[in-house]
Amino acid sequence: MEDGSSEDEDGSSVDRSESADHPTTGSTDQSASELTDRAEDQSVPENQRGSRDEEQINIAQEIFSQQEDPIFANKSLLEISHIPSFDRIVGRDEEIRKLSEELRGAVQGYSPENVIIYGKTGTGKSLVSKYVSSQAVNNAHEDVEIGFQYLDCSTDNTETQAASTLARSFNDSLQTGFEIPERGLSTAAYYKRLWRTLESLYDVVIIILDEADMMADDDLLMKLSRAGESGNTDCRIGVIAISNKIEWADDLNERVKSSLQPKELSFHPYDAEQLEEILQHRRDAFKPNVLEEGVIPLCAAYAASDFGDARKAIDILRHAGNIAYERNADHVTEQHVKDARTKAEKDRFRELIEGIPQQAKASLLALAILSLNSEQEEFPTQLVYRQYQNICDNIGQDVRSERRFRDILKELAFLGIVDNRKENLGRSGGITLLNRLVEEPEIVYEIIRDDTRFESLTDHLSNS
Ligand SMILES: Nc1ncnc2c1ncn2[C@@H]1O[C@H](COP(=O)(O)OP(=O)(O)OP(=O)(O)O)[C@@H](O)[C@H]1O
Ligand SMILES: [Mg+2]
Repeated sequence: MEDGSSEDEDGSSVDRSESADHPTTGSTDQSASELTDRAEDQSVPENQRGSRDEEQINIAQEIFSQQEDPIFANKSLLEISHIPSFDRIVGRDEEIRKLSEELRGAVQGYSPENVIIYGKTGTGKSLVSKYVSSQAVNNAHEDVEIGFQYLDCSTDNTETQAASTLARSFNDSLQTGFEIPERGLSTAAYYKRLWRTLESLYDVVIIILDEADMMADDDLLMKLSRAGESGNTDCRIGVIAISNKIEWADDLNERVKSSLQPKELSFHPYDAEQLEEILQHRRDAFKPNVLEEGVIPLCAAYAASDFGDARKAIDILRHAGNIAYERNADHVTEQHVKDARTKAEKDRFRELIEGIPQQAKASLLALAILSLNSEQEEFPTQLVYRQYQNICDNIGQDVRSERRFRDILKELAFLGIVDNRKENLGRSGGITLLNRLVEEPEIVYEIIRDDTRFESLTDHLSNS
């Protein structure tokens, strides 16, 4: 069913040909050929038209004329930026309740509490903060004007950028009568406009500082928490600062802490059951009956084993759908999920491995080759070193000393790419270090072989 696909390297295969399982509808065929005719009529004269041009026209047309998507009904439900409605937010009632309580004052025109939210990646911190803040705006008392803005501190990570973005996003020039330029003002000038905007438009604002630990310093938090006290504005400001580093709150400057007086909320990872429910609530992203039974539980199980990350669960499901589409399949199967996961892992790992030095890559490759050729998973450093020497000789790369090689293995362990543990060899004496790849050896091997410097490596080196 799935052969005949021509999946290219980045997975962007476009082959949904007639011979495939999905019969292309008559109308689609017709419109495709009509388009081809029109394109031929109007473009370059026939005698100048190369076959390459035609090929390009056909590829584009094949994609654009695909009106029927047999897999997805509403793919946007699986986009990370999508904010699900309340009835689709799963397993976060307690967090929603607590955050709403901290912000309750805002609805009545009083100061909301400042809140620091921390928790691992994909635990719903951004989602719940946006949801509760927008609910505060919707439920404001009649005479209370509430504003809410979301700032991604990984993008606006300096005080000036943050003050500029906040001032501009809160401002409504029709009401205030002034515009705020994106660039060119001093930090102090942006703050001045921010205070003026807040003063003239709002009684209360809620500001979400997402990825707050990415800010270069604590100055923004300091200014926001002291705005009232310093007489800058009468508008009440509540800050929700989000971080996935638990230690971030502890490291905050004492002065900031004392003026912020934050309440702390921590979000725990989801378990497989919750992840499954999150995905079940989005199954209408797919056409009816397209998802095979085991698909959602498998996505949830994978994401649960990867630290209960809901983003990962959704990503895997979306990728599985894409793979099914690319392979002309009628259904999304468990195999598609497995392949989607491998692809996601590979992408993440590729990024990590691509950044390490060549010597470290050779060391990692040595461990991958040993793992591929053995039932074992763990290997003593000496054995890995011999394999590493073979690789270096084979591709004409300098060989580092065994001592330096041990350091490289430790660095790889620090990056979470390799696991190493000490083992006592018993009466024969000595302690040896056993090394194991954290990721599948096939994946590591493939990624490193993609590096041109390892292209010349003889295959089956480990048998030599
Ligand atoms: N309880 C939930 N119900 C439904 N969807 C959820 C839930 N929690 C998270 N999601 C979805 O999972 C994805 C990740 O969630 P979110 O961005 O809120 O995580 P986060 O904790 O902010 O992660 P990070 O620390 O990486 O920023 C989003 O697409 C979000 O819609
Ligand atoms: Mg987030």
